[in-house]
Parts: sequence; structure tokens; C-alpha cells
Amino acid sequence: MRQTLVMGNWKLNGSKAMVSELIGALKAPAAAHPTVSVAICPPVLFLDQAQQLLADSAIALGAQDADLHSSGAFTGENSAVMYQEFGVRYVLVGHSERRTLHQEDDATVAAKFAAIQAANLVPVLCIGETLAQFEANETQAVVERQLAAVIESNGINALAKAVIAYEPVWAIGTGKTATPEIAQTVHSQIRQFLAKQDADIAAKVQILYGGSVNGASAAGLFAMADIDGALVGGAALKADEFAAIISAGA
Ligand code: PGA
Repeated sequence: MRQTLVMGNWKLNGSKAMVSELIGALKAPAAAHPTVSVAICPPVLFLDQAQQLLADSAIALGAQDADLHSSGAFTGENSAVMYQEFGVRYVLVGHSERRTLHQEDDATVAAKFAAIQAANLVPVLCIGETLAQFEANETQAVVERQLAAVIESNGINALAKAVIAYEPVWAIGTGKTATPEIAQTVHSQIRQFLAKQDADIAAKVQILYGGSVNGASAAGLFAMADIDGALVGGAALKADEFAAIISAGA
């Protein structure tokens, strides 16, 4: 049985005051639903503060990106090895904002995925199609290409220690959530694609849905057989909304 995972991606948002307020407000709802795994991905500057605030909590920490190198002359970057010191468990990789705004291609995503696993952290591999690709019925081909790029360089076994997040680009930050049926169709295609290479890994891997998930839409999504949780952006910044998503997963 796959555990539901609710992960907040704070993106480029936060301040010291906001971090302590939001974490303070999330501890009780997370503790009230111990069957749901909860994680938050604040900006790296706040990982130290978040780690301290979460010392007595089961809420896990994630980072939003990692460089593909562990150290060196790479100005402005942060590495998965560094995250180990901050109690980080998950690292997002291949988020559509990184793919588009930072020109990260499939090969870069695959290399970052490897660097995250080499540091014994769990990559959360984000995949998903643009609106034009969705309208051209290319969703399945796009997500399979994005998955194949990671599998070709890291092997199918790498997916045994990873999480997948299906995030249709047209649903991110737009208020347009994919319907549970649309999301379920793609999640099932993802699982079937993986099952062709390893049925056990396909059955066990958590596949999160992301794209304008909120307290009202979460339950319908989580009721679907192949949706194992959510990667939440905007609604993760509001304690009440994020708490409602956590309780929808219980
Ligand atoms: P959103 O972001 O919930 O604001 O659409 C999701 C994401 O980008 O992970």
C-alpha cells in the first residue's frame, strides 16, 4: 500500500517570520494525520531555520533544486551533499519552472536526479506537458520521454528510491486543476510505462499530482487509484489550505 505524501513547494516565497508562523501552524494538522507523510520545500536560505523548527515534528524537509555537482566552482548553486546537513529528505528535480525558466533539459534533469540519489536523498521527479502538448494529445508521449531520459541514464532501479510528480504545466499556478479523471489517466499511463520495465517498482512508486491543488480539490484527486498525494504550490503558503489537503489525504 502506498502512503499518501503531501508536499509543499514554497518556490521563491518566505521570510524568517513567515517560516516560523507557517511551520508553527502546520505541526498540529500534520501530527493529527500520522498516516499522511507531509513535507515542505522552503527556499534554501530557510532550511536551517526550518530544520530547527521541525525538530519535534514528523514533517519532512525538501529542497526545490540541487546542482548536478557536489561542490566546486559553480557560483550561486547548492548541492544535495550540503542538504544532508540540514536534515533534507526530498529534492525536487525537473520542475517545469526549472525546465523553462532555467533551460534544464532532460539530460540535466537526469544528471541532477543522479546527484540527489548519490547524496542519499530522494528525488521528486517532476514531469508534465504544456498546454499546447495537452491540446495536441501529446501528454503520454511527453511524460514517457521525460521518464525515459531518467531511466536510460540511471536505470529503472533508481525509481525504487524516488517519487514522481505529474504536473501538467497548464495547471501550475493557473487555478486550473486537472480533473481527477484526467490526472488518473496520466498517472495510470506512467505506472504502466514503468511496469513494462519493473512491475514491483511501478506498483510501489508514489506518484503525486501537482497543479493548483487546494483544500477543495484534494479529496477528489486522492480518491483516484494511482494518485498518491500532491505537490502543492500556492496553497502550501496558506496554513488552512495546506492543512485541508493533509486531512484530505488521511
Ligand atoms: P501550484 O504549483 O499548486 O501553485 O499550481 C504547483 C507546483 O508548481 O508544484
